[in-house]
Amino acid sequence: MSEPNYDELKLSYFKTEPIPEHIRQRMEECRKRGMIIPDETLIKRPSQIEGIRKASELNTGVLDEVQKYIRDGMTTQEIDDIVANFTAAHGATCADFHYEGFPKHVCISINDEVCHGIPSRFRRLHDGDIVNVDVTTQYHGYYGDASRMYMIGQVSEERRRLVEATKKCLDLGQAAAQPWATVGDIGYAIQKYARSMGYTVVRELGGHGVGLDLHEDPFISHVGKPHTGMVLVPGMVITIEPMINAGKAAVVIDPYNEWTISTKDGKDSAQWEHTFLITETGNEIMTA
Ligand code: MF3
Ligand code: CO
Ligand code: CO
Repeated sequence: MSEPNYDELKLSYFKTEPIPEHIRQRMEECRKRGMIIPDETLIKRPSQIEGIRKASELNTGVLDEVQKYIRDGMTTQEIDDIVANFTAAHGATCADFHYEGFPKHVCISINDEVCHGIPSRFRRLHDGDIVNVDVTTQYHGYYGDASRMYMIGQVSEERRRLVEATKKCLDLGQAAAQPWATVGDIGYAIQKYARSMGYTVVRELGGHGVGLDLHEDPFISHVGKPHTGMVLVPGMVITIEPMINAGKAAVVIDPYNEWTISTKDGKDSAQWEHTFLITETGNEIMTA
């Protein structure tokens, strides 16, 4: 039997699995009150959610595999190889590979690097480093996206505090990501906690809708005002991925590779990311 056309199949569910009437009605009420409501294609349907769940489970498997092997002295290319091989062995692909020209399979960002670090056989992990590994897996046309921080060997108290506070930012973002809340509620919760810890929040990059594509609407800013921005409707799938800096919020892009983002002041940065499904009663971590 030949493979189905997965791209056609995933889009067909917009027709065969309509948005439930009570959700449609509540969206209409929100619209009348002047709120920004998502396009109907941002509300995932049951079969699509199953597909995203599978891709997300594989993505979690990749991060677990990295966790088994990551250690002092390893090159970031070796991690890229682990990600590429494990993903291929499960019949999936690395969504980052050749995404807008990105040259590797995974983003690996160390210490003052904020995100989009490019794996290299010339870059080694050292004792005391804090490392973000950000993986996006595509399976049968569906996407799951998550990243974790790994602490290599003996990490300073200062760095550990940043890594833990950033995880807490993600958890607080999740708590704010309730059905019929807004994108601004997420950013507000994150910003408030980061600031209380003496940290700053990167503004230039953020979370995003995800599932049928790697980057979908809406943009999920990690700063914001309560009750502003797009309303979160059950069926939406988004990432929350706060990038939190120990020093100032300003970032710079590497002028040579035109990918890697680092803090401008050279101080440390941390990031954690999950893919979440907004449900009628709360949310679900797809990449748990
Ligand atoms: N995984 C990243 C995200 O969280 C996307 C990386 S795109 C790449 O959105 F091209 F840099 F790989
Ligand atoms: Co990611
Ligand atoms: Co993402």
